[in-house]
Amino acid sequence: MLIRRPPGYTIKENAVTPRAAWLRRREILAGFAAAGGTLALPRAGATKSLPAMSNYPPLKAAKTAYSPSNPAAPWEAVTGYNNYYEFGTGKSDPAKKAHRLTTAPWTVSIEGEAEKTGTFALEDLIDFNALEERIYRHRCVEAWSMVIPWVGVPLAQVLQKFAPNSRARYVQFFTKWARKEMPGTLWPVLKWPYREGLRIDEAMNPLAFLAVGVYGRILPNQNGAPLRLVVPWKYGYKSIKSIDRIVFTQDQPETSWNMSNAREYGFYSNVNPHVDHPRWSQASERVIGPQTGFRGALARRDTQMFNGYADAVASLYTGMDLKKNH
Ligand code: MTE
Repeated sequence: MLIRRPPGYTIKENAVTPRAAWLRRREILAGFAAAGGTLALPRAGATKSLPAMSNYPPLKAAKTAYSPSNPAAPWEAVTGYNNYYEFGTGKSDPAKKAHRLTTAPWTVSIEGEAEKTGTFALEDLIDFNALEERIYRHRCVEAWSMVIPWVGVPLAQVLQKFAPNSRARYVQFFTKWARKEMPGTLWPVLKWPYREGLRIDEAMNPLAFLAVGVYGRILPNQNGAPLRLVVPWKYGYKSIKSIDRIVFTQDQPETSWNMSNAREYGFYSNVNPHVDHPRWSQASERVIGPQTGFRGALARRDTQMFNGYADAVASLYTGMDLKKNH
């Protein structure tokens, strides 16, 4: 078992929801049904068709204590309330339709400014014997948030395998465009395939993570199986799902949401309570957590700068105008 010393902004793992709490399924579903108006989570009946956690093969992961103090969202919310527009724009569409995506075998094409390029099997990118768990806050640009226990590897570890050269200033990611399996891509909601990008120093930051699992299990398709990015200090749309192409570039790459509306979705997309979305405030967020529904309404809390990860990432943006570079 790998032991890694957690950085200062983490807390002990036992401060996070105990497993039993994730599994109080019936109560949680009852709660969601009560909160259904605001949340649009699947109602109890519809949710019954969602595969149980035990249907997903377990992964062995070193338990690192990257974890915020608020408790994890329940499995049903993490896997039943999703954004994955390739399967539809409704929050329950991915859970209903993403099973259609063929995720094995899976290859990733590595291109651009790197010593090693070509097509690689998922298993060549990810060492499944060296996985770790990272419990991160996940903040959607739509102003809701969840705490999610991901399983995967640091992004830098994977990118370094391909020896990016000195011209590699950015890295771009693409979601697989499986036209026949992704009914949502029949509509030009976004420019397909979904694409995202990071500056190379952002990508190499220890917090940037590639997930292959969640809750200690293989990633469900609706969460971006078999390989998705997790960039916890940025809005969730940067965390691109089902990646099949990674390109090292000299220039700032195109990103799907920025292409669809540059005024509303910048390249950086750092979580920032002081920079509002043109159509809504980002000063606070609705928390989807285990208590959701017991109170009959979602808890609201103040948005944290860089989603609470400022200690680890603020130095990446020294001297930058974060309003202009939103
Ligand atoms: N990746 C792809 N390919 N397509 C998408 O529609 N949605 C993004 C991001 N990655 C999206 C995507 C958005 S808006 C969010 S908030 C997160 O995925 C949601 O991740 P989750 O469903 O695992 O919570």
